[in-house]
Amino acid sequence: MSREVLALQLFFLVLVHGALADQAARVVEFSRSRMEMQYDEQDAAKHTSQHVNHQLYMSSQDGLKEADKVSELPGQPSRADFDQYAGYVTVNATSGKALFYYFVEAVQDPSTKPLVLWLNGGLACDFYSKRKCYLGILGPGCSSLGDGAMLEIGPFFVNSDNRTLSINRYAWNNVANMLFIESPAGVGFSYSNATSEYNNTGDRSTTADAYTFLTNWLERFPEYKGRDFFITGESYGGHYIPQLANAILSNNNITNATIINLKGVAIGNAYLDDSTNTRATIDYYWTHALISKETHLAVQQHCSFDGTYMAQCRNALAAAENEKGVIDPYNIYAPLCWNASDPQQLHGLAINVDPCSRYYIDSYLNRPEVQRALHANATGLKQPWSDCSNIITPENWKDAPMSMLPSIQELISSGVSTWLYSGDIDAVCPVTSTLYSLDILELPISSFWRPWYSDDNEVGGYVVGYKGLVFATVREAGHMVPTYQPQRALTLFSSFLQGTLPPE
Ligand SMILES: *[C@@H]1O[C@H](CO)[C@@H](O)[C@H](O)[C@H]1NC(C)=O
Ligand SMILES: *[C@@H]1O[C@H](CO)[C@@H](O)[C@H](O)[C@H]1NC(C)=O
Ligand SMILES: *[C@@H]1O[C@H](CO)[C@@H](O)[C@H](O)[C@H]1NC(C)=O
Ligand SMILES: *[C@@H]1O[C@H](CO)[C@@H](O)[C@H](O)[C@H]1NC(C)=O
Ligand SMILES: *[C@@H]1O[C@H](CO)[C@@H](O)[C@H](O)[C@H]1NC(C)=O
Ligand SMILES: *[C@@H]1O[C@H](CO)[C@@H](O)[C@H](O)[C@H]1NC(C)=O
Ligand SMILES: *[C@@H]1O[C@H](CO)[C@@H](O)[C@H](O)[C@H]1NC(C)=O
Ligand SMILES: *[C@@H]1O[C@H](CO)[C@@H](O)[C@H](O)[C@H]1NC(C)=O
Repeated sequence: MSREVLALQLFFLVLVHGALADQAARVVEFSRSRMEMQYDEQDAAKHTSQHVNHQLYMSSQDGLKEADKVSELPGQPSRADFDQYAGYVTVNATSGKALFYYFVEAVQDPSTKPLVLWLNGGLACDFYSKRKCYLGILGPGCSSLGDGAMLEIGPFFVNSDNRTLSINRYAWNNVANMLFIESPAGVGFSYSNATSEYNNTGDRSTTADAYTFLTNWLERFPEYKGRDFFITGESYGGHYIPQLANAILSNNNITNATIINLKGVAIGNAYLDDSTNTRATIDYYWTHALISKETHLAVQQHCSFDGTYMAQCRNALAAAENEKGVIDPYNIYAPLCWNASDPQQLHGLAINVDPCSRYYIDSYLNRPEVQRALHANATGLKQPWSDCSNIITPENWKDAPMSMLPSIQELISSGVSTWLYSGDIDAVCPVTSTLYSLDILELPISSFWRPWYSDDNEVGGYVVGYKGLVFATVREAGHMVPTYQPQRALTLFSSFLQGTLPPE
């Protein structure tokens, strides 16, 4: 994505994530600015597929594990019955580039549980810069600590007082050792001392750095070497995860040794294919009564979904955004955050998730005592912590394949357990997008579509097994599946780790 393209809805993302101005004012400003958005035909530039080929930087990790131990997080409700670690792993000593991680061991018997990496994606269309945005196109930039750990699957959530934490009953460290990396450098607490590197970041360097991180981290935590390893994540993680997985496999192959014992990947509401995602988003809008039949038809007529966006197509996409109105596209039935200082009464609303949670997380992670406890920001970074980076933006992103489907194909051929799952009320990487991608892959079905059940005996979603790939939906979940359906997500994740389809 050299001249970056972005979804119109990324603007909405900033309404939900991101900056801290008054919410209502932003909605108004958004309505004005979206009409002024400019487009650029050059944005259609095709991406090439990539090979990972880099020199591995390794450094001594002696004593660093002990130094990274987190005794307690400020505001933690009680003493945790698991160990937490946080700190930096240098991935390039020459430029001074280091990635920040947060690691929570499993609640019980961590030594027998797998190691699971979680990677969020991102996309941070700067609301005020009027970047060129196309509906359905995503980019990088958000934090696995702020999103994954604090909002989705970590052991603690931040309360509306911005200071105290509460326990997540459905945390994934109930069944695994969970590692969260803020990736790439420039996101969250991760940084490079050579700030020019921020403008030279793309899928390729992100993969190489994440691989370097892992090999060094395993030196720091040698008891995890050879442990069953899984990669999970969501959204633009649909780029990071297959690329990192393939890099691990090819490096294991080159050295003739299993350096990282990769067993499987699971990606939620994955961003896999530029053109499929745009088409699927529009179809999702239409089938969920968010736009008119006329506009749906106009988009179908005028958009080629091949990376080019002619004027009539752009007009039709803009009309679709207007018709949809200002809703949270990450969960089309969720309320917006109107005032982070005044927690909303959520009783009777469609969801029980506070839509302002990101503001509490933002405030919490910017507290000096929290940063000290996490061993974060020891070098005094210039910018504050933010959920989605203002430095690593889709606009500055150097490379990204237009389609990850070849990479997924490669993973399947190598025998790595590959799961795609979709929260079915997300309009950003909607379930239709994954279904269209599956159509392109043309995998033979091995286990026919059926409902699956979570512990409460409700249908948790639907699952279909293909040769080499499992696809599951999660019923009534938005983009951040575990945020909206924590119990269902944990059931699904447990099945994934066990290598079985979710319960009948
Ligand atoms: C590390 O950074 C230096 C200086 O920016 C650069 O020349 C080198 O290629 C980087 N090394 C790797 C392995 O990326
Ligand atoms: C970045 O620079 C600071 C200040 O010189 C230094 O303390 C830190 O170790 C450097 N980071 C890395 C990863 O080399
Ligand atoms: C990165 O690029 C942006 C514009 O593309 C520019 O404003 C910024 O100064 C650059 N940053 C660095 C550190 O070179
Ligand atoms: C492993 O190496 C062999 C021989 O070099 C090559 O043919 C094969 O494609 C490699 N596989 C992967 C997954 O890199
Ligand atoms: C890996 O194994 C292949 C085939 O046995 C051999 O040709 C190659 O030299 C080995 N590579 C390393 C790094 O040992
Ligand atoms: C929590 O932080 C948000 C900004 O992130 C702020 O708007 C809100 O007023 C804070 N709440 C409290 C109770 O301090
Ligand atoms: C947000 O809520 C706080 C606390 O109730 C209140 O003082 C403030 O005026 C509200 N802000 C807006 C813009 O309504
Ligand atoms: C790092 O700490 C400095 C103060 O030393 C603060 O100004 C900055 O906002 C912090 N940055 C992050 C990413 O936490």
